[in-house]
Amino acid sequence: MQQVDPAGAPPVVVVGAGLAGLTVALHLASLGQRVTVLAKRSLGEGATAWAQGGIVGVLGTDDSVESHVRDTQDAGAGLVDEQAARFIAEHSAEAIEWLVAQGVPFSPDPTGPLGLHLTREGGHAVRRIAHAADATGKAIHEALLTQAKANPNVTLLERWMAVDLITSRHLKREDPSPHCYGVYALDIDQQRVETLPARAVVLATGGVGKVYRYTTNPDTATGDGIAMAWRAGCRVANMEFIQFHPTCLYHPQERSFLITEALRGEGAVLKLPNGQPGAPWGTRFMPAHDERAELAPRDIVARAIDFEMKKHGVDHVWLDATHLGEAFLKEHFPTIHARCLSLGIDIARQPIPVVPAAHYTCGGVATDLSGRADLAGLYAVGEATYTGLHGANRLASNSLLECVVIGRTCAEAILAGTSVATPPVPAWDESLVESADEQVVISHNWDELRLLMWNYVGIVRTTKRLERALHRIKLLRTEIDDYYANFRVTRDLLELRNLVGCAELIVRSALKRHESRGLHFSRDFPHTLPVSFPTVLTRRARSA
Ligand code: FAD
Ligand code: SIN
Repeated sequence: MQQVDPAGAPPVVVVGAGLAGLTVALHLASLGQRVTVLAKRSLGEGATAWAQGGIVGVLGTDDSVESHVRDTQDAGAGLVDEQAARFIAEHSAEAIEWLVAQGVPFSPDPTGPLGLHLTREGGHAVRRIAHAADATGKAIHEALLTQAKANPNVTLLERWMAVDLITSRHLKREDPSPHCYGVYALDIDQQRVETLPARAVVLATGGVGKVYRYTTNPDTATGDGIAMAWRAGCRVANMEFIQFHPTCLYHPQERSFLITEALRGEGAVLKLPNGQPGAPWGTRFMPAHDERAELAPRDIVARAIDFEMKKHGVDHVWLDATHLGEAFLKEHFPTIHARCLSLGIDIARQPIPVVPAAHYTCGGVATDLSGRADLAGLYAVGEATYTGLHGANRLASNSLLECVVIGRTCAEAILAGTSVATPPVPAWDESLVESADEQVVISHNWDELRLLMWNYVGIVRTTKRLERALHRIKLLRTEIDDYYANFRVTRDLLELRNLVGCAELIVRSALKRHESRGLHFSRDFPHTLPVSFPTVLTRRARSA
């Protein structure tokens, strides 16, 4: 094994223990590099473990890199970076093989490529989604966590939350090329902020779905990495493109449960609630919106549902899978079948009430295809990033693939990079702050922000609503910054600070786009411009 980690040198710090973070960590560790991985909640929490449908693998004899690139571009509505799409598609088979080698139990099919069953989702021309029934993310995450726990080069720090990046600015020195030297991180159980020097820092913190009132995302999705990189002066791109998944379960006891697109891939259809009393599901409506019907890209399906709900004044529509039969549903969708049954919905006998909900952050920290961000020593991978792959709308199951492909190239880039000697970094200074008196201010601001994003910056937007949202977000930010400057940090406060920062980035990006494209639909600019570019926001570093 190549020895890359001289004793005493600081480790690589990976912020995030989802698929992106664990992929980087396992590749680095396999080459002898020590890695510290932080997870701000339990190690199992994050979007990865919640992924259902699967991960793209260009594996079938009826498939090709060209076909996958084309589907990614079609979904991405003209803003996909072709080089990124091609690079990631070309490495998809290798990514699946690596996951299989890590012990991921994908659903088998003896006649399928690599012995795997491939399913289909919206926007894909062919079956190319490798999956573990309808709990693919859990299967992947458990396998990688097992590997990481067994690897002596990996240290997993649970309930440690990165607060901010340590950069040249903290050292108060003029660097010709500004650098990232580590992170400040809150040890949540000890309630202490520690200084973690690093050979390199990798932000693998996931998306920002929690900025919306209704989301399929877990509590970890508060955009921490995006906000940290932005505060450190990195570019952030395409934040207006928030993907709303068309089918989140509509149920008072279960607000964030996804009903996988693979169910539509296998034939489930969307219906209006205009049937008979006792059986209120009525007419199928997607064929009237798009020739691909239920398998049109997500932006189209989500907007169609939003349109029908508003037109008919209803709280949800129905997803009917009853014709697929109980045996098939139990075999292919055991998680959804069991969860719905526990809520009194037998999906083999009755349709499922569904609504769109915020699902995926297509933009994020601008990186190259090795995860390099704008600051030397800083990398980002996974949903926290913008690589150009997703354009204006992500194609289903491309996200897990991006984590694995870029996770590996990122590890290679870190090892190939020159290791800069870490100067002594200053400890976190709490001498001027006190413990917060009223936590209720934080929870009120959380609620207000999420509701205003849902109402003013949702599936269909107007300039007036975006401007109102920006005005209110700025007021909230001033209040939250003031709180941050005067009180000891807690996870809730740090997350709120990051959420409000990301909310501002989303709205500012949306206001810059004077057209409707992909996931961004504006009533004031309903047309798609003939030529368009990613929205890139730039700022100079400011005091954290
Ligand atoms: P995550 O898996 O979200 O991990 C983020 C990690 O960062 C967590 O460990 C978290 O604790 C940690 N973290 C965050 N902030 C901090 C901080 N400040 N300090 C320390 N740690 C921090 N995509 C697909 O391709 N196929 C699918 O089938 C699919 N299904 C999905 C279903 C659902 C319900 C959801 C929500 C998403 C789905 N997606 C799917 C999207 C995909 O799951 C995610 O995009 C992907 O898992 C993101 O991986 P990640 O490693 O970037 O982030
Ligand atoms: C799903 O299973 O519908 C989610 C797939 C994805 O987000 O890629």
